[in-house]
Amino acid sequence: MSAAASAASAGIEVKVARKTIEADGVAGFRLVAADGARLPPFTPGAHIDVSLPGGLVRQYSLCNAPAQDDHYEIGVLRDAASRGGSLAMHDAVHEGAVLRISAPRNHFPLDESATHSLLLAGGIGVTPLLSMAQRLAALQADFALHCCSRTATRTPYRRRLEASAFADRVFFHHDDGPPAQRIDLAAAIGRPAPGRHLYVCGPQGFLDAVRATARGLRWADAQVHFEYFSGTLPAPDAQGGFEVELRSSGRVVRVPASVSVVDALAAEGIDIPVSCAQGVCGTCLTRVLAGEVAHNDLYLTPAEQAANDQFLPCCSRAISPRLVLDL
Ligand code: FES
Repeated sequence: MSAAASAASAGIEVKVARKTIEADGVAGFRLVAADGARLPPFTPGAHIDVSLPGGLVRQYSLCNAPAQDDHYEIGVLRDAASRGGSLAMHDAVHEGAVLRISAPRNHFPLDESATHSLLLAGGIGVTPLLSMAQRLAALQADFALHCCSRTATRTPYRRRLEASAFADRVFFHHDDGPPAQRIDLAAAIGRPAPGRHLYVCGPQGFLDAVRATARGLRWADAQVHFEYFSGTLPAPDAQGGFEVELRSSGRVVRVPASVSVVDALAAEGIDIPVSCAQGVCGTCLTRVLAGEVAHNDLYLTPAEQAANDQFLPCCSRAISPRLVLDL
């Protein structure tokens, strides 16, 4: 069993209580505890690991209101280019199926003290933002949600958003619609202000555009929160091998060119907890005490990467001949 699979296997058994179509190519799953118990609480932006038929483990954001503890909801885009996770969810997981999931974890938390929250969704990236919007509405907080997608029929959860109590704060933008409804990122994002926070989730191109626009408008990194979807990771760095030194023992392990730090250490009996194994979730985050990192992850902010004091060893590597790790 892979480390990713074992991370999820210790979790919760759930049953698919309902499977719905939430847009063209998007299936919604309502999950309830198989034993009928309450589910662990979660905060907006949280995700779960789902162990899929065939041994795959995939992460999905929870999109229901955090106050609901009798079920979780996830939305899954059918992605023909995926490595099997989305197809398994669409084709092999039906109502009544029993799945094993992890407890919720949150690497994309909502700052509930914000004076205004701006939520920008690209396609299926709406899922964590949908949970945030429900929470912000319950708090009677000031927010806006912009949903960008190719067409109206490919907009996940559109019907639910249109019927929600906060529908007047939701704005839809489609690539094939009239020019006037297309999103003007600079106008939507606007100038930063104390207490304003921006949350963005979606495919890499969308995130890059939002983050570049926010930077151009002089938003501080600390007020721009983002979550990539797996499958959008850049190509792995093609550097050669290097060494890692474990500070606690002084032990040195060689990391060959085509092997991750996590796998090289695991081969020596040193286990680092892993979930996504793609540099997305942050589970394997490890402190770096010396050496220079080649960051290949999508989890750390540019400022955090530049600080060179932590890295994601499931995907990131070294520029220097050796990294000293706080292990
Ligand atoms: S395991 Fe998810 S970032 Fe490394």
